Amino acid sequence: MTADDQKKAAALAALDYVKPGMKVGLGTGSTAAHFVRALAERARDGLDVECVASSRATFKLASSLGLRMTTLDKQPRLDITVDGADEFDGNFQLIKGGGGALLIEKIVASSSRYMIVIADQSKKVETLGKFPLAIEVVPFGVSATAWKIERALRICGLSGKLVMRLVNGKPFVTDSGNAIIDAAIGAIPEPARLDTLLNVVPGVVDNGLFVDLCGIILMGTDDGVKTFRKG
Ligand code: 5RP
Repeated sequence: MTADDQKKAAALAALDYVKPGMKVGLGTGSTAAHFVRALAERARDGLDVECVASSRATFKLASSLGLRMTTLDKQPRLDITVDGADEFDGNFQLIKGGGGALLIEKIVASSSRYMIVIADQSKKVETLGKFPLAIEVVPFGVSATAWKIERALRICGLSGKLVMRLVNGKPFVTDSGNAIIDAAIGAIPEPARLDTLLNVVPGVVDNGLFVDLCGIILMGTDDGVKTFRKG
């Protein structure tokens, strides 16, 4: 099975959690896109759901497939969000933001009763941090924000290279008009502490650590989909 097959299998397994009438948050990325396509097929067969997208890309895909879309302003409380992840650990903590949608993904997931993560088996790690941590920052004064991020990392006993995310040589711009700093810091033993320290830095909008948001992980493997349930 390829990683993409595993992603697809996890996405299909997530359909079992979607019930008629639910308000569903849609994640971003290749795994979430598998879920969007599968959900759209179910909706065409009569499953009545209303969806909120976590990015422009997901909105475009979901609406083009005929899913009924709404906004978080009209529906501030969602039933579930189904999204991918760059990494997850045994405590259901996540790193997200490889696709740059972390801020809206976190707003959507935290507005949902349940966040279900769908992933291939390569995303499971002992300790978060192999994947660079995306930090969304306002474009003003990025260098000043960067040294304060380094200071926050030091307080947690961490350090590493901070790199402005670029696309075709130009700063990557998030759907909210911000920039992203990718921090290659290695193992993050205390994700909750780092999350708090980063998010109080002026200029940091949010970071890719998803702490205590996810309750169920569906992981595609060569032997089928494994379910991890919190608590
Ligand atoms: C986007 C994300 C994605 O969920 C994450 O990057 C995983 O992507 P993929 O499903 O393509 O492996 O956080 O911001």
